Amino acid sequence: MNSPVAVPVIPVVKAPDTAEVLARATPMAAGERQEIIDRIKRMLREQDAVLVAHYYVHEDLQILAEETGGVVSDSLDMARFGHEHPATTLIVAGVRFMGETAKILNPEKRVLTVALEAECSLDLECPADRFVPFCDAHPDCTVVVYSNTSAEVKARADWVVTSGIAVQLARHLKEQGERILWAPDRHLGSYIQRVTGADMVLWPGACVVHEAFKAQALAALKEKHPEAAVLAHPESPAAILELADVVGSTTQLINAARQLPHPSMIVATDNGIFHKMKQAAPGKLLIEAPTAGAGATCRSCAHCPWMAMNDLRGLARVLERGENEVRLDEEVRVRALRATSRMLEFSRSIRPSAGTGSSTA
Ligand code: 13P
Ligand code: SF4
Repeated sequence: MNSPVAVPVIPVVKAPDTAEVLARATPMAAGERQEIIDRIKRMLREQDAVLVAHYYVHEDLQILAEETGGVVSDSLDMARFGHEHPATTLIVAGVRFMGETAKILNPEKRVLTVALEAECSLDLECPADRFVPFCDAHPDCTVVVYSNTSAEVKARADWVVTSGIAVQLARHLKEQGERILWAPDRHLGSYIQRVTGADMVLWPGACVVHEAFKAQALAALKEKHPEAAVLAHPESPAAILELADVVGSTTQLINAARQLPHPSMIVATDNGIFHKMKQAAPGKLLIEAPTAGAGATCRSCAHCPWMAMNDLRGLARVLERGENEVRLDEEVRVRALRATSRMLEFSRSIRPSAGTGSSTA
């Protein structure tokens, strides 16, 4: 195709350095930590609020979410939980698109995010003003976007999906004879293409965390640990996925760690997942997949800089001041709701495997 938007030029995203983000936080004395936790618990009760956290945020927030009747999960279950829970306020510990998804689905609820500046490289690399003309240039395609996108991008989509159900949805669309325009993660997109054989046009975005995993170093690590299974998130490059025993969403990887007979796991995803994975697979050795070869440097080092911006102090501040409320243009929200609701409906229709299965590369 000769259209000027046939190959989109994506913005250059300079992610913050995770180590610098973490170093900004002043260490907490034990007394202060407990005092903040108690205060947060009280405010959650008083404000009829529930905490919806992703596996990649600090374990303090994950523990608090579980202790207070909230949830720690992958992005699909975060959306599902927030939608089904009766609380009138949702506090999202994660990144911006997760807060926006919660607001798209729950306009009547107050949605607050712990860290307002927590972005996602996939979302930033797919701005609506470049994405919409790209879709317009492919009128023959069904537009499927990953949930890691803005409300404006979701508003242009036919479907929203997460990694937990992307393969199943692509299979379903292929059966209907549809051609898919997929955005924004090129690695997840080409993985789906390989597994399903669907006809797909890909937006060229990537996750700064998963793209940093190194295949050669992983192969060397596998040789050192022949007893280990390799678990990889599908945002990782193809060369990593080729070495994986299980490819799946964060929930699916945790389930695989629990179910596989292997005594150790090499894990190619954000290391925030280790908190829940250790609980799911006690006694198993969990090893971080390598992010750089000898002498190289990395900025994200297997931990998302934006997820790292979520902390206890930020959560307390948000509850105290009612800060960081997610507000969306109502017209955009209503348009985005169509594709986002379809995600929940589709996941319900395949529920026996969604969130529990895992696909093998
Ligand atoms: P999951 O839906 O698998 O939790 O993935 C979200 C994400 O941002 C991974 O980087
Ligand atoms: Fe986005 Fe990657 Fe961070 Fe997930 S880990 S929120 S995909 S930048």
